[in-house]
Amino acid sequence: GEVKLWGGRFADGPSEALERLSASVHFDWRLAPYDIAGSRAHARVLHKAGLLTADELERMLAGLDRLAADVEDGSFVGTVADEDVHTALERGLLERLGPDLGGKLRAGRSRNDQVATLFRMYLRDHARIIGGLITELQEALVGLAEAHPDVAMPGRTHLQHAQPVLFAHHVLAHVQALSRNAERLRQWDERTAVSPYGSGALAGSSLGLDPQAVAADLGFEHGSAANSIDGTASRDFVAEFAFITAMIGVDLSRIAEEVIIWNTKEFSFVTLHDAFSTGSSIMPQKKNPDIAELARGKSGRLIGNLTGLLATLKALPLAYNRDLQEDKEPVFDSCDQLEVLLPAFTGMMATLTVNRERMAELAPAGFSLATDVAEWLVRQGVPFRVAHEVAGECVKVCEKEGVELDQLTDEQFHAISEHLTPEVRSVLTVSGSLASRDGRGGTAPSAVAAQLAEVKSDLVKQ
Ligand code: ARG
Repeated sequence: GEVKLWGGRFADGPSEALERLSASVHFDWRLAPYDIAGSRAHARVLHKAGLLTADELERMLAGLDRLAADVEDGSFVGTVADEDVHTALERGLLERLGPDLGGKLRAGRSRNDQVATLFRMYLRDHARIIGGLITELQEALVGLAEAHPDVAMPGRTHLQHAQPVLFAHHVLAHVQALSRNAERLRQWDERTAVSPYGSGALAGSSLGLDPQAVAADLGFEHGSAANSIDGTASRDFVAEFAFITAMIGVDLSRIAEEVIIWNTKEFSFVTLHDAFSTGSSIMPQKKNPDIAELARGKSGRLIGNLTGLLATLKALPLAYNRDLQEDKEPVFDSCDQLEVLLPAFTGMMATLTVNRERMAELAPAGFSLATDVAEWLVRQGVPFRVAHEVAGECVKVCEKEGVELDQLTDEQFHAISEHLTPEVRSVLTVSGSLASRDGRGGTAPSAVAAQLAEVKSDLVKQ
């Protein structure tokens, strides 16, 4: 083989088997624009340190511009023999500027500080893209809630009917979870705004380069790494990003699972738009919630990307180890998956239709107003322990007689407890039950309207 970057010490180039194992260019090529941006910033500090003349800097930057254009239009690409994106781009520069000038750029930097920096830049850009896609999904969900301000549905715990809630309240619960993910991305971005450039291989540089100037040039608001070993070896920013994307996947999977259930014949709570569902190759009547199923499936993949990455990092000694080359594919994949999933998911949620009659009909079923009976008794001065028992007795009688709570007669109520006067009927309606839960965060229409207003004003700021 041909002698490499480290040619001086080696009599022979790498075996083909090593080259094939070692190559990352097929997946790290997407860092190329960031690598070139890093090279421009590095060239400027080399000039500031007196290691490039003004004329050399100008020719270097022009060469980098040509290289960037050739990368962009595909006329320059890295190959397996280049190993990685950094080496490929150095070859590209040498080809354009000749070895004397092109060979000066590598001074004072290492692929170790380069890759740590570029990876941060790439993920910061994608954190913003994913954050924007989450905002769009939240807007779709807010739209769904707003379009159905008065639709009641069975609220569930253990997937059993628990208490009636507003559909809008339920939908906004998912919006709240997504808001926290959007906030996690912003806080992560803030923490990741530190540049490892200038850390060199691990120990910093002896060439008087200015890492803070590079950091500012590359948009790292919090300057350069305080510790060159940490700068090159830490990957908690990758793990945290992988966690946030996995959490987004998990939260999407929870919405997805509900959409899948709601869309069954048995539930018939929602109907998906034709443009956001799929058919069957054999069963002509089928209309399947594939987007929701893919969301559920991809969440497993996003979790795998996180756990695989943590396993790679576990027990790695400081500083750089080649194991770290395994850090990129999982999170590149997490970005790619979310960036195709979220637009489809948002479209599905924005276009589904809600069967309000079906939801409303089922809202009081399963004795979901039993808690209202108990709380009504408490308001009459009955201790909750007794009230719970009395309401439970009501349910028992209903089950035996095959009736709903509001179908018990005044006599039956009185026979269960003298406290159960006919006035208890005031809470035996879904609308009465909903309206009574009017504290902050409750499911009363007034409380949900307040929540909606709060969410909408937060979304504008997000
Ligand atoms: N391609 C490597 C990575 O992704 C960076 C190169 C560092 N290689 C090295 N032998 N120090 O981590």
